[in-house]
Amino acid sequence: MKETMYHQRAKELVSQMTLDEKLSMIGGIHGFYTVAVDRLGVSSLFMSDASQGVNVRSEWLGEPMTPALKQSTAFPCLVQLASTWDSALARRYAAAVGEECRAGGIHVLLGPGMNIYRQSQCGRNFEYLGEDPFLAASMIREYVTGVQGEGVVATLKHLVANNTDFYRRKSNSVVDDRALREIYLPAFQAGIEAGAKAIMTSYNLINGEWCSQNRELITTVLRGELGFDWLVMTDWWAVNDAEKVIRSGQDLEMPAAQILADTGALIEDGSVSETDIDRMVISQVATALSMDLYRDDYRAPELIERLPEHEAVALQTAREGTVLLRNTGVLPLAADAHILLTGRFAREKAFGGGAAEVEGFAWKTMEEALGASFSDLRFVENPSTSDLEWADAVIVSTGTLDHEGWDRPFALPPEEEQTVSRIARAHSATIVVVNAGGGIRMTGWADDTAAIVYGWYGGQTGNQALAEILSGAVNPSGKLPITIEREFDDSPGAGYMPPGEEFYSDWNSDEEEAHAVYDVIYSEGVFVGYRWYDTKDIEPLYPFGHGLSYTTFDYSDLSVSAASLGEGEAVNVTCTVRNIGSVRGTEVIQLYVGSPGKIHPRPIKELKGIARIELGPGEAKVAQISIDATLLRYWDPDRSEWRMEPGTHRILVGASSRDIRLEGAIELI
Ligand code: BGC
Repeated sequence: MKETMYHQRAKELVSQMTLDEKLSMIGGIHGFYTVAVDRLGVSSLFMSDASQGVNVRSEWLGEPMTPALKQSTAFPCLVQLASTWDSALARRYAAAVGEECRAGGIHVLLGPGMNIYRQSQCGRNFEYLGEDPFLAASMIREYVTGVQGEGVVATLKHLVANNTDFYRRKSNSVVDDRALREIYLPAFQAGIEAGAKAIMTSYNLINGEWCSQNRELITTVLRGELGFDWLVMTDWWAVNDAEKVIRSGQDLEMPAAQILADTGALIEDGSVSETDIDRMVISQVATALSMDLYRDDYRAPELIERLPEHEAVALQTAREGTVLLRNTGVLPLAADAHILLTGRFAREKAFGGGAAEVEGFAWKTMEEALGASFSDLRFVENPSTSDLEWADAVIVSTGTLDHEGWDRPFALPPEEEQTVSRIARAHSATIVVVNAGGGIRMTGWADDTAAIVYGWYGGQTGNQALAEILSGAVNPSGKLPITIEREFDDSPGAGYMPPGEEFYSDWNSDEEEAHAVYDVIYSEGVFVGYRWYDTKDIEPLYPFGHGLSYTTFDYSDLSVSAASLGEGEAVNVTCTVRNIGSVRGTEVIQLYVGSPGKIHPRPIKELKGIARIELGPGEAKVAQISIDATLLRYWDPDRSEWRMEPGTHRILVGASSRDIRLEGAIELI
């Protein structure tokens, strides 16, 4: 660990603590606090979930704690933020979350979440940023900067390979070094480089050891390789062996010192030393000092007046992050069209549940939001033939309520699939709106629809953004940060659940306790998401990067600023993008690189650059993307190091991973 000036100061403080005081600090208290040593000016730090806004959590905090905030903004979920591909917006979003933390006196935000989307059934996909490490990293960098710019600690979670919530404390992710480096760690690395001050380890085991007490992971990889110098905390109730926890490089057991309760005895019998405990406490205190968290005026209640501005950022995120997957021309709808609304979330809130849930305020249901945009909207629970005949267009709401603590099937329940399918077949202008935290099975009805809009969990303003998109007031620009497969068996994560076991959908701690540790074998290695579908030549229903607009963009004039690229160099890729339609729109231009893969198999293409360009009708602009040679490295498993592969690399520029419009090349030397 680096000895920063904060570590020096922390060392001095810790040297004045009694052993009991130090032992009291290696676990949390009251659910979400660290323990204070008031006589030394070390005050208690308050933590709160999570990535998509502040969980006010009033009912969870017992005496003597008070709710953090009366109100906080329910932002769109993180996978929707990723669907914007707009890292500048990620910074604004996170700064707004940071301001709300400051208003509530929250020192540590227990987010952002950044586990890679390995499989669509994971109950927490909504809390993360999709399947691609480059996209996730580019959002995380700005997210961390946004939160911490407000003086609040950002916690990168959950380290690492925490890609299922099915008996999450019992899943052992068996993952190779290369996949870890190339796929699962880059977002963490980006967060660390952006200055993130905390990391939360995950519930699962990795290669046979629980992450929260995994020395190889925390000391060798996180602290050594990734150079992380600050606070590492466990997930809540996630450790099993005190000695291992202390030796692993872990700093803090949350929510309380339970496994670590008898550490005093371990010191006495020599299993661990007081110096080990000093290290843990120094790390916690140094982190707090580096962000000046012990000051009395940390809480800034006046910032609550910024809620309207935060709501505007939330709305902008929902506008940019709602993805139009299919449109045969039915959208946008005329304001006076006869619109029939039906389905699951027409009147109900769609949201992701668990620690990340944010209550929000002033939510508009879909019916209310659409009712404000369309003069002739009718809600009907079970539309009859005559209802359908009346309608110019039918909006069917469907989706899932994803939740921390369990996974959910890729396919909707059969009755739900049948209902959507029946309506889509009965009415030629059926628009399906999906609210879900990840991909769902749409095979069977997608081709019968006139349009499909993926609205994720849009937070309190999500339905307003939806209404604006359906009416054409906003031109959609969101792009999928995931692949949506036709069948779950097509996906790289298929088969992760132990054979014969069933989904459950409730907190089931006793059963989880009793459940045996089971292996989730990441046999696909680095071939996650589109890397998998490309290599296996499997046609997804909707590919990574896909998303339609009400206008059309033309790509031309690809130019690569150099013919070759060496270590430490960068190259500029430019192309012209023209709006050849009749309305203003924003295009997300995606740059993929295809490596030769002659030494070790490489994905056919990998995302390495993004440009967002807004264009009026007929307007053209030059998109410019710079690629640094380090971005093109791969992890050599034989030598355990990053390497460049010499040879011709394809430069692919397009509107999705399966809609490549321009191709060039660069020689790596
Ligand atoms: C979740 C964490 C969360 C913590 C505190 C756990 O159940 O896995 O993501 O930060 O609870 O609420």
